[in-house]
Amino acid sequence: MSSKKSVKPTAKEPIHLPSKEFSAKARIPSMAAYKKLYKESIEKPDKFWAREAKELDWRKKWDKVLDWKAPFVKWFAGGKLNVCENCVDRHAKGARANKAAIIWEGEPGDKRVITYAQLHRDVCRFANVLEQRGVKAGDRVLIYLPMIPEAVVSMLACARIGAVHTVVFGGFASEAIVDRLEDSGASMIITADGGWRRGKIVALKPAVDEALKKYKGVKSVIVVNRCNNPVAMQAKRDTWWHEETAQVSAKHTAKAFDSEHPLFVLYTSGSTGKPKGILHSSGGYLTGTYSTTKYVFDMRDEDVYWCTADVGWITGHSYIVYGPLANGATQVMYEGAPNFPDFGRFWKIIEEYGVTIFYTAPTAIRAFIKAGDQFPAAHDLSSLRLLGSVGEPINPEAWNWYHQKIGGGRCPIVDTWWQTETGAIMITPLPGATPCKPGTATMPFFGIDAAILDDSGKECKADQDGRLVIRKPWPSMIRTIYGDKDRYKKTYWSDYPGLYTAGDGARRDKQGNFWIIGRLDDVLNVSGHRLGTAEIESALVAHPAVAEAAVIGRPDDMKGQAVAAFVTLKGKYQESPELREELRSHVGKVIGAIAKPDDLHFAPGLPKTRSGKIMRRLLKELVTTGKVSGNITTLEDFTVIEAIQKKISR
Ligand code: WT7
Repeated sequence: MSSKKSVKPTAKEPIHLPSKEFSAKARIPSMAAYKKLYKESIEKPDKFWAREAKELDWRKKWDKVLDWKAPFVKWFAGGKLNVCENCVDRHAKGARANKAAIIWEGEPGDKRVITYAQLHRDVCRFANVLEQRGVKAGDRVLIYLPMIPEAVVSMLACARIGAVHTVVFGGFASEAIVDRLEDSGASMIITADGGWRRGKIVALKPAVDEALKKYKGVKSVIVVNRCNNPVAMQAKRDTWWHEETAQVSAKHTAKAFDSEHPLFVLYTSGSTGKPKGILHSSGGYLTGTYSTTKYVFDMRDEDVYWCTADVGWITGHSYIVYGPLANGATQVMYEGAPNFPDFGRFWKIIEEYGVTIFYTAPTAIRAFIKAGDQFPAAHDLSSLRLLGSVGEPINPEAWNWYHQKIGGGRCPIVDTWWQTETGAIMITPLPGATPCKPGTATMPFFGIDAAILDDSGKECKADQDGRLVIRKPWPSMIRTIYGDKDRYKKTYWSDYPGLYTAGDGARRDKQGNFWIIGRLDDVLNVSGHRLGTAEIESALVAHPAVAEAAVIGRPDDMKGQAVAAFVTLKGKYQESPELREELRSHVGKVIGAIAKPDDLHFAPGLPKTRSGKIMRRLLKELVTTGKVSGNITTLEDFTVIEAIQKKISR
């Protein structure tokens, strides 16, 4: 099993129990209550999930809660609903009409408060714009925006008219847009002139223009004027958001869609060169994100919730847009960097808006620890009542700092394990119930039948490493990989027949807590973001100087994993510091800055098996331990290892 650096349970782990005050008010106030409901949810999943789904507005009730023909699923089959109506209209009509839905802050300090009634008008207007521009139910719309309210409005407007959104993280480059346009066949793009990041404008529209030189299927580009930076507008094709929305009505009648109508495609890295389009559908996804938001964050009307993720990732989809809004929550949304103008920005925001629930990533916490305690200490964080973590295992040092310096020792921490594919939180503490040990995501959420299996498919014993699987379907699960059913079957359902393989290694301790070790495939977790080694390799090989490339993850104190690349050059090219920089930036240009290799080693050759497969395992050992000790009997040429060893030790 994987030998990745992991958070190992020790004999004397401290156990943190939720306070009596917290538990007394919580929906799930004790482990006994958790266990009772968990048992019901596993024995009678139909009953549990139907009860959750009933809290949403359905235009037509479902005929059947679960229709499972592994690995294809239908939840609430025959039911009809409008996802946007559930997130917006039902709050805008009632007592929450003038409640803040989004309290937004731009990086330069500009502010907007959008109530549910206002959000309703904004979404209706934009739905009218989309329809006027010819977008129909089922059409794909690519969204490439900074963290501004228009991103949420665009997603909801697509959902409202049944169009399928595919959001591309603003940090991705034009090639990444081209791949996603080609795979999804999108006919419209919503973008902005740019966004603010660390005091500078990051232009977005030029990447779209570049992408549209290669992909010809886009008829219409709508551009938000966020930064007033100059953009090239192509007549007929490109129009301004503010002009489009000014000429349409703020009323829009939403149609109902089938529960299984596709809601969005979100691309994520796997073990091949091309990202896969994870398809989520409507009724099940909304039920899953609604229910997890309600129980895991114990969300209340009076809460001020803040999730620091970007809408370009699944965390932004599920826990900025659909989960919180379906709950009628008030949330903070922030455009910029955590360290602008300094590392106090997040704490200033929490103080100013009285944030009560804060959800962020371990990599951010580690950066805050490094920056120094004086930043949080300068702010009143007493409004906080609950903290969350997502993206990678949270190391005990980060957990303890988060608990003490941010949570004042009083806030429970929910360490939530889940994936783009799972749509919603799967393994997590429930804040009023679960005893927490720093480093474990603890127990499965209701209805989630998680287990750890060995290679033969037997369930592992306590403290034994194995593969994390989910044995029963759940409402917010991936429906397929867009346009590729076979890859869907092969990637997630072929390790053990009928069971979902997460791709993560894990173990369970004697109390039943799940400790996630990390990915078992060629996927890296860099600052909580998923990157495929194959994707970075194919970007490197696309450069004229590169003959071959191998990419691995190396442990990094800040990022969790850093990207290390080994490159062999074509005959006529010379190794040089300039070429190294050029290759690093090349990856940045092709995929985006997050994929830029931290280390780039030139190698005369790469270690391979006799059949020609690159042995990344050996490279990994080399960069972590400086030598190779594992099984090398399949290695074709040992001299390449010696040559690489010499280089990296220099
Ligand atoms: C992978 C999924 C789910 C939103 C963010 C990432 C790792 C995620 C945890 C956690 C340990 C975690 C896993 C997983 N991961 N959360 N709490 N503890 N590992 O979504 O890009 O789909 O990545 O992130 O390795 O498989 P994603």
